[in-house]
Amino acid sequence: MIIGVLNSGGDCPGLNAVIEGVVGAATRRGWKVIGFYDGFEGLLSEEGNDKFEYLTPAKCRGLRAKGGTILGTVNKGNFAIKVGVGQKGEIEPAVLEKTKQTVKRLGLDALIVVGGDGSQSTALLLSEIGLPVVGVPKTIDNDLGATDVTFGFNSAVEVVSESLDRLETTANAHQRMMVVEVMGRHAGWIALQGGIAGSADVILLPEIPFTLENVVKSIEERKAAGQREILVVVSEGARLADELILLDEKTQGEVRLGGIGKVIAKKLEDATGIETRACVLGHTQRGGSPCSYDRILGVRFGSYAVQLVAEEKFSYMVALRGGEMVPVSIEEAVETLKLVDPDCQLVQTARDLGVCFGD
Ligand code: F6P
Repeated sequence: MIIGVLNSGGDCPGLNAVIEGVVGAATRRGWKVIGFYDGFEGLLSEEGNDKFEYLTPAKCRGLRAKGGTILGTVNKGNFAIKVGVGQKGEIEPAVLEKTKQTVKRLGLDALIVVGGDGSQSTALLLSEIGLPVVGVPKTIDNDLGATDVTFGFNSAVEVVSESLDRLETTANAHQRMMVVEVMGRHAGWIALQGGIAGSADVILLPEIPFTLENVVKSIEERKAAGQREILVVVSEGARLADELILLDEKTQGEVRLGGIGKVIAKKLEDATGIETRACVLGHTQRGGSPCSYDRILGVRFGSYAVQLVAEEKFSYMVALRGGEMVPVSIEEAVETLKLVDPDCQLVQTARDLGVCFGD
């Protein structure tokens, strides 16, 4: 057997761990693994201009600890068919034809696609033209409904909580307010969990509409009680008065978010009179080594994806449910985003700790 593996979309700590898991499990079965470069683009290889390499356990030894991805990735290009929630594009017939030729030329028996909902939508389309695919869910945002958790998420939460610990000491020294913008396009999981771990006073999420008045009131109560520093965490996808703040429009792919932290910081400083600084954690949340949880989840996902190939369970994606690896159909997996339920236990716990959600 010869199987391919590629990762597509934004990178995420743990991608290399998945690759190591795939290579280990496939080699143990006597199979060969081809790793395609730069997402699906690697499938457009031509003889003499190959965009892939054969992966061996020796090449992948210890990869689970490394951030980024040895294969490279793209979140645009010839295969980017999902351009926003509910929106789908198409792949050019010539691109599909070239993909089929590559699959035939290399004798690929299956392809493992590591990616978020956009990449899994592409994987589904490739399965419709007869390519046997198995998916592995990836996103630091943790917003894929089919799995309890995606790798990369816990590493991002670590970055947020450590950053809040650091920001707290300088904010306390200067009696300042820090507004920390974190990733989370549609879902506020990173803000919620990172905010709780890092003792945020205010957490603003895309799922919980907030007003500045409510936020200001809670900050003033804390100041009146003698608190020196104020920590506010805001998801990049949170909306102020229904305004989604965009950094710019992309010609391809999803619009780029960013800037809400600065806007909120200015408004809160004006309203409270507290000296305020904004801090955008941005891609620090996606960079660096994966935490232990994500290393283990990554190798588990990779190894189980190979198991699904062995069972010929194609057009399925691996998922973690209740601590166990299970297959879910890719079609079902890309249907629902997992958003924070404003009434969930975690939000209740945060409220018990005095967190203001601005509602
Ligand atoms: O989807 C994951 C994510 O990290 C989002 O939270 C963020 O909006 C986006 O990727 C950023 O992507 P890019 O790398 O294109 O700036």
